[in-house]
Amino acid sequence: MYKRKDYYYEKAKKEGYRSRAAYKLKEINKRFRLMRRGDYILDLGCSPGGWLQVAREIVGESGYVLGVDKTRTPPLEYDNIEIREIDIEEFHTDTKFNVVLSDMAPKIMGKRDVDQYRSYILAKKAWDLAKEVLVEGGNFLVKIFQSNEVRRFSDELRERFGYVKFYRPRSTRKGSSEVYIVCKSFRIFY
Ligand SMILES: C[S@@+](CC[C@H](N)C(=O)[O-])C[C@H]1O[C@@H](n2cnc3c(N)ncnc32)[C@H](O)[C@@H]1O
Repeated sequence: MYKRKDYYYEKAKKEGYRSRAAYKLKEINKRFRLMRRGDYILDLGCSPGGWLQVAREIVGESGYVLGVDKTRTPPLEYDNIEIREIDIEEFHTDTKFNVVLSDMAPKIMGKRDVDQYRSYILAKKAWDLAKEVLVEGGNFLVKIFQSNEVRRFSDELRERFGYVKFYRPRSTRKGSSEVYIVCKSFRIFY
């Protein structure tokens, strides 16, 4: 998946993580405390599985991690990690989650506005799903490429979360336009 080798690529290889992206989630969680022991986590765009590994470390044996990706994710040796190979468009669940993570990214076409727009659509889909499955007070983390749509999107998130912040982890590749939106304390309107 990651062809260019760098510090985080080598670190991931040495420490047994399936992706350098694992360090982004570690950094974000250290800073924002999105996940805790015992939590139920939904990880959208989970392949090859670096975030699944990090989430499992945090939730421990009493939690549960469900990963979804349209491409195959090799299984992980834990009873409380499940993986569904399916497009988010087709995915449904009745389970409720404490945290929804989305690291989904479109296949890069090289046309910046097209890539940005497709990233926005994926982020919106993650949000539509999060609205259905998050518990009251739950947290949401979503990756999105910088674009004109991002501000409007974050305004929409602010209506439903007590706390919304943009964050770019140190381990993000230089030149990448991606940013994460960290959302905490989901409000359910009855
Ligand atoms: C950057 S990778 C995720 C890396 C992962 N967080 C990790 O640590 O291993 C983005 C993933 O989003 C997935 N993806 C993109 N569009 C998707 C969709 N419509 N439904 C499900 N997964 C999707 C891709 O297949 C890809 O595996």
